[in-house]
Amino acid sequence: MAKKKLTTASGRPYFEKQDSMTVGPKGPILLQDYYLHEQMAHFNRERIPERVVHAKGSGAFGTFRVTHDITRYTKAKLFSKPGNKCRVFARFSTVGGERGSADTERDPRGFAVKFYTEEGNWDLVGNNTPVFFIKDPKKFADFIHTQKRDPKTNLISQTMRWDFWSLNPESLHQVLILFSDRGTPDGYRKMNGYGSHTFSMINDKNERVWVKYHFKTLQGIHNLTAQQAEELKGKDPDYSQRDLLNAIEKGDYPQWALKIQVMTEEQAKHFRWNPFDLTKVWPHSEYPLIDVGILELNEIPANYFADVEQAAFNPSNLIDGLDVSPDKMLQGRLLSYPDAHRYRLGVNYEQIPVNRPICPAHNYQRDGFMTVNGNHGSAPNYYPNSFDDIEPDKKYKIPSFNVESNLADTYDRNENDDDHYTQPGLLFRKVMTDQERKNTVANIVDAMQQIDGPKRDEIISRQLGHFAKADRELAIGVAKGLNSPFDVDKI
Ligand code: NDP
Ligand code: HEM
Repeated sequence: MAKKKLTTASGRPYFEKQDSMTVGPKGPILLQDYYLHEQMAHFNRERIPERVVHAKGSGAFGTFRVTHDITRYTKAKLFSKPGNKCRVFARFSTVGGERGSADTERDPRGFAVKFYTEEGNWDLVGNNTPVFFIKDPKKFADFIHTQKRDPKTNLISQTMRWDFWSLNPESLHQVLILFSDRGTPDGYRKMNGYGSHTFSMINDKNERVWVKYHFKTLQGIHNLTAQQAEELKGKDPDYSQRDLLNAIEKGDYPQWALKIQVMTEEQAKHFRWNPFDLTKVWPHSEYPLIDVGILELNEIPANYFADVEQAAFNPSNLIDGLDVSPDKMLQGRLLSYPDAHRYRLGVNYEQIPVNRPICPAHNYQRDGFMTVNGNHGSAPNYYPNSFDDIEPDKKYKIPSFNVESNLADTYDRNENDDDHYTQPGLLFRKVMTDQERKNTVANIVDAMQQIDGPKRDEIISRQLGHFAKADRELAIGVAKGLNSPFDVDKI
């Protein structure tokens, strides 16, 4: 086979790769050695900003196949009949660590899936937990600061973390999941994924239902013990990447069953918690899981940077028949992600192959850095015009939420809005096994022991108060482990 010629970026064949062009064999380098400059300059620009959260991750392509009929809930073409398929790209991640951090840190795991459908991209940008630490986007930046490094010491600080959590008791549900064994999943294949927020579906009669998405792993749930996770941080910091890569390359394709929970608008009015509160789940016994389809990952991208690092997921990438809800966190995320992508990847990030829809995009967006799609050629760049045949189509009109009955206001004032304790209590008492309860307490003690400084006792006793309101035994167990004089009967 004929060998390929080494060239400059502009395609000029080049004669020498190893030695710079010099004045004589020992002389200084000539300014005209363009290949050398190009190589050094390009290298200096190899790094793009890492994601401000979820910087460390792994990705794979695959397929999603619809197995059950859900047309009574949604008119989305993807779900029009069982057997429909589309290509997907999924990216899993840890949240707080930098791009080089260890995969087995105790942290939620990102679980983001891009569905390339005939009617545009649908991104479901979830986590491996059904709830989150906060329920208002105004708190997000402050919360994330506590998961990152201390401004002075540049160290991870359990003091910052527990100070924030203890002052924001709405975090308790997610904190408990984080410190259970599910906080250290055994790679990315053996964990569930959750859309977490309440979304909505709209059917062909324009009726809306509220929906939660669940991806149940078909590999079974497997977690690492705290000790295993700790050891792997040193032995194999890229453990989850290796696990996903190895499984897919040997044909052992991981799969998840996509299921939904559905709540009618009427049911939502009477739900005992705010159905749009991201710190709460909908009990399965009242809102059972409904089968939808199977997600399978079967292709590792040929180039990590091209596809995994440049992937841009966006909760506002929705398709006709799938919509948002009044969940404040979701509403905040609709703005935050495209903004983050414009900063990290540039204004034309949707033109990068991994993000590009498989259907054509017809609009009047033009120019900007890195326009690589031909910029719509000579087509008109304004609307309305007398030349093209692009028109908005009324059939895609999104029905409004029922705000006359002040859904949002009603739920804002829900009397159970400050109930941060019932669901974590159920999780600890009813769902966890004895061993899981033991591990959860031990994991919490291990982290809280590291709280230091003048506010140590105050932070510990505030947090113990929250544990006690969720479950007495939980608070007693943690207090005992910390040798704290905390008196659970005073709560
Ligand atoms: P169920 O008994 O019907 O369901 C319990 C759920 O808890 C299952 O989905 C199970 O996941 C999951 N689970 C088990 N161990 C853990 C853990 N350590 N951390 C997080 N989730 C875990 O109960 P309910 O629906 O009535 O909910 C009771 C409690 O279960 C909730 O308060 C919540 O804390 C938790 N939960 C509920 C979910 C929901 O959507 N209703 C989802 C996840 C958790 P799996 O089936 O995969 O083993
Ligand atoms: C990534 C913001 C809550 C899941 C990100 C990024 C930002 C962000 C800015 C980086 C995007 C990028 O540069 O590519 C926020 C804000 C939130 C919020 C403002 C709350 C208001 C959540 C919640 C979930 C979640 C609740 C899960 C349910 C993810 C995932 C990624 C991510 C999975 C990584 C996506 C990928 O793999 O590229 N978030 N986030 N986030 N977020 Fe959030």
